[in-house]
Amino acid sequence: MTQAQDILRAPEPDYSQSLGVSASPTATFHSPLSSFGGVFSQRGQPKQLKPFNTQDIKILLLENVNQSGQDILTGQGYQVEFLKSSLPEDQLIEKIRDVHVIGIRSKTKLNKKVLSEAKNLLVIGCFCIGTNQVDLEYAAEHGIAVFNSPFANSRSVAELVIGEIIALARQLGDRSNEMHKGTWNKVSNKCWEIRGKTLGIVGYGHIGSQLSVLAEAMGMNVIYYDVVSLMALGTARQVPKLDDLLKEADFITLHVPELPETKKMISTEQLKMMKNGSYLINASRGTVVDIPALINAMRIGKIAGAALDVYPGEPRANGDYFNNSLNGWEEDLRSLSNIILTPHIGGSTEEAQRAIGVEVGDALVRYINQGITLGSVNMPEVNLRSLTLDEPNHARVIYIHQNIPGVLRMVNEILGNHNVDKQISDSRGDVAYLMADVSDVQTSDLKEIHDSLEALNSRIMTRVLY
Ligand SMILES: NC(=O)c1ccc[n+]([C@@H]2O[C@H](COP(=O)([O-])OP(=O)(O)OC[C@H]3O[C@@H](n4cnc5c(N)ncnc54)[C@H](O)[C@@H]3O)[C@@H](O)[C@H]2O)c1
Repeated sequence: MTQAQDILRAPEPDYSQSLGVSASPTATFHSPLSSFGGVFSQRGQPKQLKPFNTQDIKILLLENVNQSGQDILTGQGYQVEFLKSSLPEDQLIEKIRDVHVIGIRSKTKLNKKVLSEAKNLLVIGCFCIGTNQVDLEYAAEHGIAVFNSPFANSRSVAELVIGEIIALARQLGDRSNEMHKGTWNKVSNKCWEIRGKTLGIVGYGHIGSQLSVLAEAMGMNVIYYDVVSLMALGTARQVPKLDDLLKEADFITLHVPELPETKKMISTEQLKMMKNGSYLINASRGTVVDIPALINAMRIGKIAGAALDVYPGEPRANGDYFNNSLNGWEEDLRSLSNIILTPHIGGSTEEAQRAIGVEVGDALVRYINQGITLGSVNMPEVNLRSLTLDEPNHARVIYIHQNIPGVLRMVNEILGNHNVDKQISDSRGDVAYLMADVSDVQTSDLKEIHDSLEALNSRIMTRVLY
């Protein structure tokens, strides 16, 4: 992986450093002895600009980010401060002023007020799935990229669903509850093997497709419905309409995103179409199932069992909150037989947390060192192949700018004085991201390029990596 020094955003660049190009707020960049005019023996290899003062990059990790993420960032030589908890807003503001990178989970709110104080911030890593705790638009408008890890827990969800299919088919939850109360109730009536039964998967994405493979290994027949035509894994079969799936499946499991089209996609009408004595599982988003309709369908025996991991209203903290104050039907739901209720734990495993740490940690390193935005949730996704060891006098210029007419012409006038080896540009809403690799540039050229780009009205942020 290419590592590079970075002309960071700063109001008053300090060009007095040895290379004369650092605008780092902590401003201690050295000449990367290996880079300009340096000697390289492994031609064609990705460029490692070591040693350079990576300690200039200050990172704050909050909310007990997984060790795997911490290791990746400290391994790069960045200055990493790690805290187990989130911070009250005033302390967060105090800390965020100083850092280039912040890593959070779901409790830290990075709203406009907090971000407006984050004058040095380059990038936010959400070491979780959701990003609604961050004002993504404000961040993008200020050149701050945001990354998360949407798919690191797919396997964990798929495994939970497999467990629930068997648990529902055998009424395990009820038997276990009875035993906890001292009641021995040995029954086989309406308890089933899952072998030979049909599983209907709604949404054949990361989780749905993993589940498909696991379910077939358990001897189930798999059908799925998706708005996109997708290649089936194993002997699974895509059905053209949701109704087809509802009528054919013994177990139905939902794995669609939360969208206006998926809101209450399973309601009274759909429950009526399902087979008598079939089962419903929802570990996607709470709004996808009309829960009062499900309660009715279970009371009349139409649906033999259900497992819910997600709810339209969910408590913000652990505690005795699953009562009628949240959604109004919790007591009714709790009174039903053969229903497994879990507190949004589908993706909550040690493995998933580790995978999230690695995915977000790697994305942050790629962004800091190479400016690559692949996987960003608020910036255009831009990638260029790495600079290599046989390109010693190259630099990568990143210009985040307002998406307005005429900018590229002005940028290319500035870059055009040098040899631009490769260049890419893309936009997302009001923000555009340009990345260009220029060759045969000396330190003084970098300063000139940086200053000229900074002077353009369209500028949001300029970075020069070398
Ligand atoms: N319970 C948990 O802890 C947990 C953990 C991770 C993800 N999730 C949720 O699981 C769901 C699926 O996640 P994923 O990672 O598999 O997502 P994904 O984006 O990989 O797959 C979603 C699939 O749904 C399909 N789809 C979209 N709209 C549809 C519609 N109207 N009808 C049918 N199919 C439709 C898409 O084409 C896609 O193939 C999401 O809602 C996600 O938020 C829950």
